Amino acid sequence: MMRIPFIAGNWKMNTTAAEAEKLVHDMLDRLDRIEEVEKVLCPPFISLVTIRELLKGSSIKLGAQNMWFETKGAYTGEISPLMLRESCEFVILGHSERRRYFGETDEIINKKIKAALENKLKPILCVGERLEENEAGRTEEVIGRQLNQDLNQVKPTHNIVIAYEPIWAIGTGKAASGEQAAATIKFIRDILAELWNKGIAQDLRILYGGSVTSHNIAEFISQPEIDGALVGGSSLEAEEFLSIVNQTAEIKGD
Ligand code: PGA
Repeated sequence: MMRIPFIAGNWKMNTTAAEAEKLVHDMLDRLDRIEEVEKVLCPPFISLVTIRELLKGSSIKLGAQNMWFETKGAYTGEISPLMLRESCEFVILGHSERRRYFGETDEIINKKIKAALENKLKPILCVGERLEENEAGRTEEVIGRQLNQDLNQVKPTHNIVIAYEPIWAIGTGKAASGEQAAATIKFIRDILAELWNKGIAQDLRILYGGSVTSHNIAEFISQPEIDGALVGGSSLEAEEFLSIVNQTAEIKGD
């Protein structure tokens, strides 16, 4: 199976509803026309329904940035997979900002992954090491543990995307090198082969995320191991995001 390149924009806690609509308007037609890349926008919850309508009939898909693992009930302030399913195909889970600021453990992330899959949502599971862990040469240990716990008792599935996001590279302007990212992504693929099987590990898309811009996307995407990117800051500017997707289509299409 050929791995279709995948670029997702994680808008995080940015854009009012009006700004979100404008951002989509500014890139909709041009983004829609870029073939051979799976394109996903992950706006804040409050804009999902409006953007779903704007994207109708286009090739651009929608994702959420988080969810709780129960389908309904007394969980004030939370959003369930059942609610998201009406608008989204994807959901980002295990983002390091969720782990760090909102106390999400691998156990919680594991429950969320299972709940997403049960409710026909495709998780974009984020894993990555901290700077100290990276400097101490513990990257593989940390990522191995995260994957084992986050995917504990999850049946092998094609409906998941993994994002390798070294925490020290997120929002810092200090991206990993293409080679560094490719080596860790190869390691992630090996873990998936052990955990599930070789065939699925070869089929799944594994992305790099962390300070990706139109200036460095080529370095990542030209690595055969890297299937795309999870883009934060640079997904908030239409021209920048379009350039990232366009370069991905060109390089992977060669
Ligand atoms: P960044 O964020 O591109 O702003 O570094 C990436 C992410 O957190 O997914």
